[in-house]
Amino acid sequence: MSSSGRRRRSTAVADTTLTTDREERDAKAIAAAKETRVPTVVVDDVHIVYKVHGASAGKGSATSALSRLISRKRSPAITEVHAVRGVTFTAYKGEAIGLIGSNGSGKSTMLSAIAGLLPTAKGAIYTHGQPSLLGVNAALMDDLTGERNVVLGCLAMGMSPAQVKERYQDIVDFSGINEKGQFINLPMRTYSSGMAARLRFSIAAAKTHDVLLIDEALSTGDQAFQRRSEARIRELRKEAGTVFLVSHNNNAIRDTCERTIWIETGELIMDGPTDEVVGMYERGERP
Ligand SMILES: Nc1ncnc2c1ncn2[C@@H]1O[C@H](COP(=O)(O)OP(=O)(O)OP(=O)(O)O)[C@@H](O)[C@H]1O
Ligand SMILES: [Mg+2]
Repeated sequence: MSSSGRRRRSTAVADTTLTTDREERDAKAIAAAKETRVPTVVVDDVHIVYKVHGASAGKGSATSALSRLISRKRSPAITEVHAVRGVTFTAYKGEAIGLIGSNGSGKSTMLSAIAGLLPTAKGAIYTHGQPSLLGVNAALMDDLTGERNVVLGCLAMGMSPAQVKERYQDIVDFSGINEKGQFINLPMRTYSSGMAARLRFSIAAAKTHDVLLIDEALSTGDQAFQRRSEARIRELRKEAGTVFLVSHNNNAIRDTCERTIWIETGELIMDGPTDEVVGMYERGERP
């Protein structure tokens, strides 16, 4: 649990005040977003199915694997994983939406689909503007230095070389990569997973996005970086776009998102103000 979470629970009085404040803020933000009514992402009865080729249909024991190898029998099976099942929602300009659910519930799949990286088996996704997926799996080149990756990443996001030059130092400072030495001049493969995630976040956050999709990027950073990135997400929201945040850190969701969507086994369980949705999720209740 983060320190802010502990603080929040320290006195019952402070807790209720904070909760009502937040509830008010969330209700206002949702109402305002609906009033201005500029939909940025429309997800309409979306189904996403992964097709896994060559998946073994057998028991998966060592002997069966060996006998398959020896007999050179090809496993003909294509296994289908129905990862998202009929999800529908609309996101509006200026909203920050949390996406929660247990492991394997379909959150990352949903974000990839919104980013246009996965086809839908049924239903459709409409987006206004270009969504950018910023995740711990976003592609940076391991063999290139942090510096090269910053430059390439910025160019790939459509910045001009002059803009890259102008933003470069800010990105490096924000990432905090150089706090413990000149790591920015070393290849990415020498970075810890947290450092790499921070650099990815910093690159993506340097640009104003129409729709910014963040997958777990915050949970890898340390406390100081988490605070910086939460502040940056709030800025990005003000600068117009819509932000989706996938995280298992419920406090990060509470602090950054006014609206939360909860999915489980690919189905939408709940969509509403963060406090209500996250509260139910934490208590293990179902609407
Ligand atoms: N590339 C893939 N090929 C086949 N199945 C996949 C693939 N990626 C994910 N899945 C399956 O799709 C389902 C949803 O996975 P997804 O990664 O979207 O979950 P998640 O909610 O992001 O989980 P987590 O909280 O662990 O990150 C799971 O059953 C998973 O096994
Ligand atoms: Mg995931």
